[in-house]
Amino acid sequence: MCGIVGYVGPREATSIIMEGLKRLEYRGYDSAGLAVIQNGRIERRRDVGKLANLERRLAESPVSGHIGIGHTRWATHGAPSMVNAHPHLDCAGRIALVHNGVIENFLELKEELLDRRHVFKSRTDTEVIVHLVEEAMKSGKDLLRAVMAAARKLRGSYALAVISADEPDKIVLARNESPLAIGIGDGMNFAASDVAAFIERTRRIIFLDNGEVGYITPTEARVFKLETGMEVRKRIVELDWTPEMAMKSGYPHFMLKEIYEQPHSIREALKVQEKYLDLITEFLDRGRDVFLLAAGTSYNACVAASYMLSKLARLATTPVIASEFTENYGKSVGIDTVILAVSQSGETADVLAAIEHARLSAATILGLTNVVGSTLTRVSRAYILQNSGPEIGVAATKTFTAQLTVLAQLALRLARKRGKLAQYEIDELKDELEKLPELVEEAIKISDEPIKKLAKELKNVGSIFFLGRGISYATALEARLKVMELSYIPCIAYPAGESKHGPISVIEPGYPVFFIAPEDPTRKQVIGNVMEMKARGARIYCVGTEGDEELRENSDWWLELPRVSEVLSPVVYVIPFQLLAYHLAVEKGYDPDKPRNLAKSVTVQ
Ligand code: G6P
Repeated sequence: MCGIVGYVGPREATSIIMEGLKRLEYRGYDSAGLAVIQNGRIERRRDVGKLANLERRLAESPVSGHIGIGHTRWATHGAPSMVNAHPHLDCAGRIALVHNGVIENFLELKEELLDRRHVFKSRTDTEVIVHLVEEAMKSGKDLLRAVMAAARKLRGSYALAVISADEPDKIVLARNESPLAIGIGDGMNFAASDVAAFIERTRRIIFLDNGEVGYITPTEARVFKLETGMEVRKRIVELDWTPEMAMKSGYPHFMLKEIYEQPHSIREALKVQEKYLDLITEFLDRGRDVFLLAAGTSYNACVAASYMLSKLARLATTPVIASEFTENYGKSVGIDTVILAVSQSGETADVLAAIEHARLSAATILGLTNVVGSTLTRVSRAYILQNSGPEIGVAATKTFTAQLTVLAQLALRLARKRGKLAQYEIDELKDELEKLPELVEEAIKISDEPIKKLAKELKNVGSIFFLGRGISYATALEARLKVMELSYIPCIAYPAGESKHGPISVIEPGYPVFFIAPEDPTRKQVIGNVMEMKARGARIYCVGTEGDEELRENSDWWLELPRVSEVLSPVVYVIPFQLLAYHLAVEKGYDPDKPRNLAKSVTVQ
């Protein structure tokens, strides 16, 4: 989820690239850089932090040329630092490359390249690609063919832009799973990971599809299929987006864009490296007491994880709200305690304070976060990155489903290590994990329109109930949090079975009660809970599994989603509630991207 910009044409490349990078600043980044061909040589400038730092460097040491590539980096492999910032160069400094995405097999590729005496300067997965291109060019290939040869070796996601001092009028591009577009200008062409970078200069766009490579020169833009090398006749799309709309890829708000991005972010979350999963699994297995520690949405992911770990790996864990940890469990923490802290930002003060306390008592700290280099990554014995890219909407959406995806992989891995599941069960779950992006895509498609209508019906209600049993209790918690924080409607979430021990007294005729009821072992009891609520006059809104006639008949409003295994169900069944929160905010005239009184990252206790 970094930003890529490329320019080739008669103008000064540096200023056009800097302008494009500024347009991509909204995505968040930790370092930036550019490479321009100047007098037949590649000149590169990079810096950590804001673009102003890169600008200062350029002012001290200017670069001039008519072709170049730029990048804003959001670290995934290798901490945010100058050496890890893009562009990366080959050994001879004749090729420069920028990359978005995650290369899964980079360690194997790196070893092969090290054997061939390539010298690596960074700890990124990206750098292997530029050395692969160098290898291919050494064997006589031109830049396009060399990038194709390199791309064929990559497993993972990428958007690439590459220049070579030996072909100084050409930017080669390649795409798999990470977006990349070409902007067609007059005697000049542009490339970017996000059309926001150049929309003010041209609205004529070619979107690259997965498995396509291509190149631009000042007057040409050509695209080929990576697999066959055959040329593809691409359509030029005329976009009538404003720069503001372009940043949101045409969506009215970042939150909606991020909800729709989830098939992609879940795919990225499935690329967590095995060795980190193994390491964390090892520590979880050794713990006497295992706590899952988090705040906000990340806490809801921990509640779901406690069901996953117990059901699959037979490991009992305690999900704890970070700000309560020290008071509640502080005295019981010791050398046998393992804490898995889950924090999108890796900076939440409540989480860090609890960890600090536990660390002083010799507990083992593990982390799951979206931000490399965050405090959580520095204080954890081992950590996993969820690869979601920056999330701009304050309310977490895509980072929640990505957390769940990583946590499910952990639970499965631990189950295998402990021998708690049969091989066929492991295989089935692995297949389902792979299918999650499609299931989520389907859930978004099914839900969006009916939920939009529903938001009109519900916008004036005084409060809403969300009920679920088993792991769907975690989904109910997240549904409640999303709807409440965005619509400002007070909401209640309860385990469906517990609702009769108090909350049911609130119910009066017409009171809206949502049931999250995918088909799983709790379904029969959930039907009982539906009946209890109906008997008191509640209006029943139910999200269940396709074909569940009995539940449908007992609901006043019904939405059915695809079948999915119990432990993965929150990933799919939370989707309609993210959309409900979004549409309610819009209906009520609130800004879904910036709910009042809330911050994306809360760094005070
Ligand atoms: C804030 C945000 C929430 C987030 C919580 C925890 O309250 O508004 O969306 O879930 O912090 O953040 P973390 O970065 O630790 O996951």
